[in-house]
Amino acid sequence: MLEPERILRLEDDRVVFLDQRRLPLEEAEVACSSAAEVADAIRTMVVRGAPAIGIAAAYGYALAAARGEDLEAADAVLRASRPTAVNLAWALAEMRADPSAAHARAIHRDEVERCRQMAAHAAELMAPGTRALTHCNAGGLATGGYGSAVGALVSAWERELLEHVWVDETRPLLQGARLTAWELEAAGIPHAVIADSAAASLMAAGEVDCVVIGADRIAANGDTANKIGTYGLAVLAHHHGVPFYVVAPTSTVDPGTATGDDIPIEERDPAELTARFPARNPAFDVTPAELITAIVTERGVHYEPFEESLAAEGAAA
Ligand code: MRU
Repeated sequence: MLEPERILRLEDDRVVFLDQRRLPLEEAEVACSSAAEVADAIRTMVVRGAPAIGIAAAYGYALAAARGEDLEAADAVLRASRPTAVNLAWALAEMRADPSAAHARAIHRDEVERCRQMAAHAAELMAPGTRALTHCNAGGLATGGYGSAVGALVSAWERELLEHVWVDETRPLLQGARLTAWELEAAGIPHAVIADSAAASLMAAGEVDCVVIGADRIAANGDTANKIGTYGLAVLAHHHGVPFYVVAPTSTVDPGTATGDDIPIEERDPAELTARFPARNPAFDVTPAELITAIVTERGVHYEPFEESLAAEGAAA
């Protein structure tokens, strides 16, 4: 299991990231010396995954405060780095109240602890012998440690409930094939990478018992934004009667966003798809709440109607 400080950390005069773009081939670090450099690391996906983006923004803001940077400018540059993960705005709101390094490190510690709690709740949804499918990377790399969806798989594995994980390669940046597979290998969990387009036939063959994914933003009604391709998986899961679980901390729940229609979807550089031809590259899609079997946060397991269950549990804090 990756140490949280190995994934990202705040030092006296810099924020240091494990460069996720170079994994699994190389474990290299990138150091940032200003809020603008941290924002650049978020935008270029040195660090990625909603909770990790939030923690990175908290560290960037604390660094800016320690360096005597203009904090309004620091807030603005960090806030603009990526639009979809609400954890970024959440972490900046937290940091505006107390910009200290101790507060930023506490946010990091708390996010990892939330992962451990939600993973334990989610593991209880799995029966012995479960063959799960996951998409993108919602592991320790994406959350600052332990992981949300991958954390749930680790917890299920430790309880001897998990048999195998299908890992969507996750086009176009291959977070599944590069990062999730790397984390599952380190945890000793049996897994196989599949082309994103193989999920349908595996479900039709009865080889998938549940889909477990993370989230970048959960609207008040339960509509969930996650890596592009997630919505298609949810439609497939519904068609084949496969449970579809979202595992995410309350910092990903956005009570200020009523439905998925209001979630901003990041459009990334078409060159990530093709250097030559015209392309369209939305990085996320929204899965409607009615296709989601359960949303698991650190506070417990939420079922429809999510508007009530998320609010009643205080998840939408
Ligand atoms: O573009 P990314 O790699 O930052 O997107 C992250 C995701 O969408 C992941 O699927 C993840 O579930 C959300 S963060 C735990």
